[in-house]
Amino acid sequence: MSRSCNLVINGRSVEAGIGETLVDAGLGGWTVIPHDCCSGQCDTCRVTVVRGSVDDQGTAEGRTVLACQATVAGDAEIEFEEIPAMTKRTGVVSGITHLSPDVLEVVVELTTGFEYRPGQYASVKFAGFPARDYSPSLRLDGTMRPGELVFHVGRLPGGVVSSQVGATIQPGHRVQVRGPFGHAFLRDGEGPVVLVAGGTGWAPIWSLAHAARTSQRHRDLIVLAGARDLHELYMRPALDWLVQDGVRDVIGTSERDVVWPVRRGRPTHYLPSLGLEDTVYVAGPSGLVNAVKRKALATATRCYADPFLPGTQSLSLIDRVMRMLQSPAREARAAVGVRSPALSPALRSIQADRIVSTPSPSAAALTGQRRHTSASN
Ligand code: FES
Repeated sequence: MSRSCNLVINGRSVEAGIGETLVDAGLGGWTVIPHDCCSGQCDTCRVTVVRGSVDDQGTAEGRTVLACQATVAGDAEIEFEEIPAMTKRTGVVSGITHLSPDVLEVVVELTTGFEYRPGQYASVKFAGFPARDYSPSLRLDGTMRPGELVFHVGRLPGGVVSSQVGATIQPGHRVQVRGPFGHAFLRDGEGPVVLVAGGTGWAPIWSLAHAARTSQRHRDLIVLAGARDLHELYMRPALDWLVQDGVRDVIGTSERDVVWPVRRGRPTHYLPSLGLEDTVYVAGPSGLVNAVKRKALATATRCYADPFLPGTQSLSLIDRVMRMLQSPAREARAAVGVRSPALSPALRSIQADRIVSTPSPSAAALTGQRRHTSASN
């Protein structure tokens, strides 16, 4: 491969060969463009083409391309937004709480701090299990203590990791966290911010909403959160928090059953008309994310998306051995039990009546966690 082109990355020149991906070209010149999956799924590597041209390989959105897919086609200049450097941290699970029958809040206490921008995600590896991607969020009452990360984990029957949270994975379980990753993080700006979440897509959206209310109170906020059923609309306390904090446009939607103020339908049914001054963030099932992205694209509205896609990584041999070694400790911890929050009478009756069954793929998509979500999760 000839190395005859000049690629300028954030002001730094590197020699690059025609056909190399931008990520590889950067690495060849000792310049790391933030990346994670390298398969065109996570959006972490999205860069802006400032001048010249690259072969976008079908990933162009406006002037941006995915650097892990787009290839060098000649001299060019690209830019990416600086994000905290990727780090690896260790910690332990310090709490597990049911937020709904299918969603758990998992709090991890780290030995040292983990820097990220609201809306980003991390690769989380519970000892003995394959890594999964979760977004650091907050408790639904808007709190988070220093040194801890709060995750919302959608539990799937048969999921390799999610089905074990609260079972094999209990308080005290060791965890590795790697990151941060993702491109749908909060930026400074002036215009309204439109936040759209489906299922556990609420985790990054809640982080964004809370940060916007803390550091960008001058901006109007429009918040839409949806779930398939009322009992899956686990984020209702957080929606109440936003209303009490003065956010006027807060809408929760359920496709099946509704109780005021929850509205019937999907978040897309209540999306406001978008304009150039708006910035949209959307996270959750890919169907919802793509629908919102299409609407934003049609009006040239800035849109940062965090789609949750199926994953396939199963248990490695080392993970299997680790799980076997952990079995005695698991039994001891199980005696402690998993904490359950006080549920509203309505939610309690829904939970009591609920018959566990295998959800349809679309239901699984709404309750599942992010990119690495599937029946094999
Ligand atoms: S690293 Fe390019 S999309 Fe994930």
